[in-house]
Amino acid sequence: MCGIVGAVAQRDVAPILIEGLKRLEYRGYDSAGLAVIDKEGVMGRLRRMGKVRELEDALQVEPVQGGTGIAHTRWATHGEPSERNAHPHVSGDIAVVHNGIIENHEVLREQLKGLGYVFVSDTDTEVIAHLIHHERKSAASLLEALQKTVAQLEGAYGTVIVDRREPDHLVVARSGSPLVVGHGIGENYVASDQLALLPVTHRFQYLEEGDVAEVTRESVDIYDLHGNPVERELLDSDLDHEATEKGPYRHFMLKEIFEQPDAINSTLEGRLTDNHVAIESFGHNAREIFSKVKAIQLIACGTSYNAGMVARNWFEDMGIPCRVEIASEFRYRKAFVPENCLLVTISQSGETADTLAALRLAKEQGFMSSLTVCNVPGSSMVRESDMAFMTRAGAEIGVASTKAFTTQLTALAMLVTAIARCNNKMTEKEETQIVSELRSLPHLIKDVLQQKDAITELAEDFSDKHHSLFLGRGTMYPIAMEGALKLKEISYIHAEAYAAGELKHGPLALIDSEMPVVVVAPNNELLEKLKSNMEEVRARGGQLYVFADPRARLSAGEGVKVINLAEVSDMMAPIVYTVPLQLLSYDVALIKGTDVDQPRNLAKSVTVE
Ligand code: AGP
Repeated sequence: MCGIVGAVAQRDVAPILIEGLKRLEYRGYDSAGLAVIDKEGVMGRLRRMGKVRELEDALQVEPVQGGTGIAHTRWATHGEPSERNAHPHVSGDIAVVHNGIIENHEVLREQLKGLGYVFVSDTDTEVIAHLIHHERKSAASLLEALQKTVAQLEGAYGTVIVDRREPDHLVVARSGSPLVVGHGIGENYVASDQLALLPVTHRFQYLEEGDVAEVTRESVDIYDLHGNPVERELLDSDLDHEATEKGPYRHFMLKEIFEQPDAINSTLEGRLTDNHVAIESFGHNAREIFSKVKAIQLIACGTSYNAGMVARNWFEDMGIPCRVEIASEFRYRKAFVPENCLLVTISQSGETADTLAALRLAKEQGFMSSLTVCNVPGSSMVRESDMAFMTRAGAEIGVASTKAFTTQLTALAMLVTAIARCNNKMTEKEETQIVSELRSLPHLIKDVLQQKDAITELAEDFSDKHHSLFLGRGTMYPIAMEGALKLKEISYIHAEAYAAGELKHGPLALIDSEMPVVVVAPNNELLEKLKSNMEEVRARGGQLYVFADPRARLSAGEGVKVINLAEVSDMMAPIVYTVPLQLLSYDVALIKGTDVDQPRNLAKSVTVE
């Protein structure tokens, strides 16, 4: 959601902060601001509504200079998007940026008003600024004031604070909202995501829950929840900062769609032996755990949940009981935990608040072990799960998830295979077949990408529509869900997915010439049933757009447009058929002129509940 960048250096930090904010803009972007302190203790603050570009332009007119600074991109939660509500928030000499939500902000606000503090914004963050200012009066240091402050906060926060009177350091605290410390040479940084700091460093320390830290040019001192000094592992990031550039592509989303063959190759690399999935790639004790597994619980949100829906079918096809649930539901109900049940969270970011909360809760609920399928090394879910399987898709910047989804499915296909083999639910021959199909995936996806022009032509038909339906059956129903999610989030066209057999139970009433119906039709045992469902649409004047296997022998005609994809196996079909739906959504959004990479109201990493 919101993004944080901070830096302490000898040089002027404003350019580092602006570059960092630009790299975080995809996370949240209704306003942005920074505060910079120079050697003399003069603090300059600048805030602007809109994109980081507005702030950058404003800096040309009103430059702020200095070696210590904090900056923020905001995605409004408390208080409308406005310059007044943009961060940093200031109380006297103190300036604060904050991600997350302070749940007891109303109580604190009243207490602080009683102490004479005047609030000038509608944000929950402003209470942090005033509280620190208040605590600083009696504390021996800014760090101690922060420790006293966080002891009073309820909710989630990643926060960075500067004090004009002590210009050479930042203090930071993390609880429920990620923060990473970047190590430079003679300068250090903090950010809510390592992507922000890749131009200046590749050496990172992730703060853990409850940590506070003091960061100067030469030192980083971290203290745990109880105030004890702690060491956090220093990691070298292998992310290339080019990964966060669009290159020749018009949008990150398009770049990321076209990166899928390489991303899937990376997901597979080193994890397949000749004919097997390497079970140890899930963790050194994975074999022992997997051979005891009797059931699976998958938890995720959004696109990652759709990946879980596909995997449920795969697990149950192998005779392994599997449930899948949206994290925001799972965390608020009493779930039944079967014996020897493996908990699997699926998340691109590894920081999604609901999924992370579900993982934490589930730890107390008697699951035998936890595994996360995740794309961000060092993220909270990776650190807090017993096992982690990285999807290795590379940085995904577009808010609409594309390569993260297809690599999640690739990873989940490997997980299903590994668990099924450990439990003798799959023959060696079947495993060999799946391994060979997985290896063919990048090539199959390249073939689909070559159909881009044909898909662009279809997109013309959607751009003036207000509603659409997506149909699929079996493992293709979640792919219809994913296609509908993509279309609605980037083109703002209302899109609903239905298991095609459900049509006649209600949604058929919606069918007319203004309701395009997209169908994913691979050559599987449900094909004939699906064809009947398509006839139901056609007979009522609906316009069908079908992505099909040539063996299905579906031909275009009155009310039906067909794009044939390459022949593909049942198990790989969900992965391959996702790609044309991504391209369709992209092209429709392009025609409609929406903000493809940063669709309205959405943020990439949903770190608040
Ligand atoms: C999909 O395009 C969205 N960006 C969204 O649904 C996303 O998948 C969801 O917020 C979960 O995020 P995660 O995978 O990082 O946990």
